[in-house]
Amino acid sequence: MINNEEAVNSARFAKCIATSKRINWDLEDDVIQGRIFDISHKFLPDGLSKVEEISFLSESEKRFLSQIQGRTYANIFGLVERFINTKMLELGQDYQFGDQVALEALLRFSTEEIKHQELFKKIDKMCGEVMPDGYDFSFDSNEVAKAVLSKNTWAVLALTLDIELFTQLHYRESIEPTKNLSPLWKDVFLYHWKEESQHAIIDELEFIRHDSEVSVQERDLGVSEFIELVGAVDGILQHQSASDAFYFAAACGRKLTEQESSEVQRSILAAYRHQYIFSGAGHPHFGKVLSSMITTEQMGRIQTALESIK
Ligand SMILES: [Fe+2]
Ligand SMILES: [Fe+2]
Repeated sequence: MINNEEAVNSARFAKCIATSKRINWDLEDDVIQGRIFDISHKFLPDGLSKVEEISFLSESEKRFLSQIQGRTYANIFGLVERFINTKMLELGQDYQFGDQVALEALLRFSTEEIKHQELFKKIDKMCGEVMPDGYDFSFDSNEVAKAVLSKNTWAVLALTLDIELFTQLHYRESIEPTKNLSPLWKDVFLYHWKEESQHAIIDELEFIRHDSEVSVQERDLGVSEFIELVGAVDGILQHQSASDAFYFAAACGRKLTEQESSEVQRSILAAYRHQYIFSGAGHPHFGKVLSSMITTEQMGRIQTALESIK
């Protein structure tokens, strides 16, 4: 016997399955289509890369920096999708002897994330074929996933919903409306967004289900561990922004002054914090879901932690 809420959730899972089947795409036939990257185009749009704010860079240098950031953007998704997928497979076990519709929705989610990881690995390789040598993205997705998954499920689901909501926001508000981006890079994130739209719905259903099952103490620990995870994300961004700034300085074709180098690094870190922390944390729907679960004091702790990053 299932209650009304379970029936409503099952219908939402069924809708995600139907959409997932309808928009399903093939990595080579639909996304890549035999193309290669053309470096006469920008990759990451200005609204996310913030390269236009660096006044001393030439147009071609801004374009190169948008390509570096666009490559890192693909790699960051490839990185986080390992832990997201592992958590979804774990949650799917709750449905093994229960709602088979929910189970199918989570399994499709997982299959899609495996495909996305393959896509982003390929994008990094294809970028390497047209960009100068020296780019480095050395995080191990398994090690990062193990560290993230050592936190409690409430915290991991909060971070997951945050990420999958900003994925959609970036596509709709920055990537889709920006003209003159690399058509291939743009298609990668069009197809990714199509499948991520279902993921964000599933994340929210699972987050709410899990939240309803935890104790007050577990939720409070979840808030603390979510703050720790945001801090860990910032650690990754600090490392990668330094690495990307170093690569830019080495490969941009001229010698930057010390002041220009540090300004490029500062600007990349600010752009990455905007992309991966503040655009998700400030997403209205994320705020709405969180505030339905946590106290004003707990929300205040999250705000204070975010302000300490700025
Ligand atoms: Fe994905
Ligand atoms: Fe996803």
